[in-house]
Amino acid sequence: MAHSDLSQATSAAVNGAAAAPTTILVSRRESFNAAHQLSDPRLSHEENERLFGKCARLHGHNYVLEVVVGGQLDSSTGYVLDLKRLAEIIERRVIRDVDHSNLNTDVPWLQGRIPTAENLALACWERIVPELPQGSLRSVRVWETDKNWAEVGGHG
Ligand code: NI
Repeated sequence: MAHSDLSQATSAAVNGAAAAPTTILVSRRESFNAAHQLSDPRLSHEENERLFGKCARLHGHNYVLEVVVGGQLDSSTGYVLDLKRLAEIIERRVIRDVDHSNLNTDVPWLQGRIPTAENLALACWERIVPELPQGSLRSVRVWETDKNWAEVGGHG
């Protein structure tokens, strides 16, 4: 390949890369307070204590829910997604139901699930995903304490 052809090919590759849409991630964080106990209703009290320890007793957490959405920049607004809209979706689909509630008994869409952070993250994903443009929800992370979180999506 002549030198001029090579430089044209390189230039085309660079332009192609530049033209490929860049995905940008945006995130909204909300918090809620709720009570739960880790217990399987099919098991005895003793079996639940053995499996879940102190968490088998009713107790509360200050949960944090982090939702990440990815997409291309809308050049007219400068947004990927208006985060006020994401905040409204999280409030209406999740926070309204779980805040100041008992997760074991008060939330219809958590019935039949032991309310671990993992199950909460999965249920929150299922509540939020139909409200967003297809493929745009990237991750839902539930912080149960400062030390523990569970995430659906992400890099897995
Ligand atoms: Ni707990």
